[in-house]
Amino acid sequence: MDITYNKLVDVEWRRQDDRKAQLYSRCVVALATVATVLLAAMAVYNLLTPRVSSSHTASSSSIRLPQAESCYDPCEIVLVESIPEGLEFNSSTTHPSIFQAWLNLVSEARSSVDIASFYWTLTNKDTGTHEPTANQGETILKKLAELSGKLSVRIAVNRPQESQPQDDLKLLNDSGADIRTVNMRDLTSGVLHTKFWVVDKKHIYIGSANMDWRSLTQVKELGVVVYNCSCLAADLGKIFEAYWFLGESQKIPSPWPSSFSTLYNKDTPLQLPLNNTPSNVYLSSSPPSFCAAGRTPDIQSILSVMEDAQSFIYIAVMNYLPTMEFSHPKRYWADIDTQLRRVAYERRVKVRLLISCWASTQPVMFPFLKSLASVYDPMNKLDIQVRLFVVPANPKQKEIPFARVNHNKYMVTDKIAYIGTSNWSGDYFVHTAGSALVVNQTASRSPDPTVQSQLKAVFERDWSSDYSTPVTQNSNLKDFC
Ligand SMILES: *[C@@H]1O[C@H](CO)[C@@H](O)[C@H](O)[C@H]1NC(C)=O
Ligand SMILES: *[C@@H]1O[C@H](CO)[C@@H](O)[C@H](O)[C@H]1NC(C)=O
Ligand SMILES: *[C@@H]1O[C@H](CO)[C@@H](O)[C@H](O)[C@H]1NC(C)=O
Ligand SMILES: *[C@@H]1O[C@H](CO)[C@@H](O)[C@H](O)[C@H]1NC(C)=O
Ligand SMILES: *[C@@H]1O[C@H](CO)[C@@H](O)[C@H](O)[C@H]1NC(C)=O
Repeated sequence: MDITYNKLVDVEWRRQDDRKAQLYSRCVVALATVATVLLAAMAVYNLLTPRVSSSHTASSSSIRLPQAESCYDPCEIVLVESIPEGLEFNSSTTHPSIFQAWLNLVSEARSSVDIASFYWTLTNKDTGTHEPTANQGETILKKLAELSGKLSVRIAVNRPQESQPQDDLKLLNDSGADIRTVNMRDLTSGVLHTKFWVVDKKHIYIGSANMDWRSLTQVKELGVVVYNCSCLAADLGKIFEAYWFLGESQKIPSPWPSSFSTLYNKDTPLQLPLNNTPSNVYLSSSPPSFCAAGRTPDIQSILSVMEDAQSFIYIAVMNYLPTMEFSHPKRYWADIDTQLRRVAYERRVKVRLLISCWASTQPVMFPFLKSLASVYDPMNKLDIQVRLFVVPANPKQKEIPFARVNHNKYMVTDKIAYIGTSNWSGDYFVHTAGSALVVNQTASRSPDPTVQSQLKAVFERDWSSDYSTPVTQNSNLKDFC
């Protein structure tokens, strides 16, 4: 898995920290300026242009913000999961596999496949084990290689270290794919941690799974695939184009050229039907310096989804730390932690965190989780609870390096489904490239389940399963994982 990166990127943080802070504030100022100009321009445009409007567009915003055109694509959205070999739930909550989604995308592709990725190890040559469960990853690689000769296959990948296996990338390159490596170390002292696909500029996948065979059979992952949705694909395409651009220029434009700008964000989401249900969606992106005008930075989307919750916030992430994990000297970073405590206190929102525990879990996560879990007092209607999810491994599975872990990264509230690609610690929102899909279907009157209700069921299944254990003040990390 990606653990080796921690060490690799480590040394770089120190040197570049101050420069980043400056860049960040400059980016915010620039963004605000551009946004203001854009809003003014759009207001004028709105005055001059008659617009098509549907019933849900009219009521969706109390502030009079300019709104983009509605989208009438027949978008089909499907939650997809990787459930590690041997994991069993006593639950009827199941979703198609990520493997199946990728197979579908590969077989649907007619003109283009764009993939944003962290690293590639789809065959298990990397581990020296002989794992039959690597066959799904190997199938995907083979099919992508076949496509590479026939249509446009573009891959943006974090610049690999010398020591990293590059066989997959070499195979794809030799098969005709275009590959650009993004030197995130130099650009932001982070990594490109994003994982998404855009196919034929109309289907997308986004989620926690890396281009790693383990992500299909040995690591627990969650993502979402949206078919027949060119409006959304066009917007994700802009994030891809930003990585593609950076892969060549190796320099972050400031401001970004307007072709990277978006109309869709937390204040003016894209309005479209998802499975025939009126929905508001947008894509967020990190780090902030990668956000062109209009794009909501990932951290802002997380904080605003929390802000908007009225009764509950369920969070399932691999790592949770109120720190800049990789910074030297050490730095505390409590944006998310503070928001959770605040909504739990001020609005009595029920908060649940399901965090992963495995052999490589950093012990320092524990005191911070205990601290959050201590904000629990039914008398005062304080209700934050934390559990650890452990993916068990038999002796043979234990031999597979960096596997057997819950790697998913999502949040569901009484209103919103948030599906992301980032670990939850400061670095991921400040230095590292990641993105998320935010889905709001509160206007739905359809009897069909919303993404929010499906994601809630996934969370509840995992939370109440035998694989999860409450964190208490007496919990000892060693007892868990
Ligand atoms: C996300 O967190 C996990 C657990 O610490 C780690 O293995 C992985 O490297 C992290 N991702 C990145 C890009 O650092
Ligand atoms: C969700 O959409 C409804 C309208 O459909 C809107 O009133 C509400 O503010 C939205 N919530 C968020 C968090 O975007
Ligand atoms: C990719 O393929 C081209 C030829 O199509 C070759 O010139 C280039 O060296 C290859 N790059 C890598 C990293 O293998
Ligand atoms: C996408 O649209 C095509 C053509 O209208 C249709 O055949 C296909 O079933 C749709 N795919 C999904 C997953 O809805
Ligand atoms: C499923 O239910 C059985 C019987 O109640 C129980 O023994 C088992 O531990 C449960 N498994 C999980 C994963 O919750």
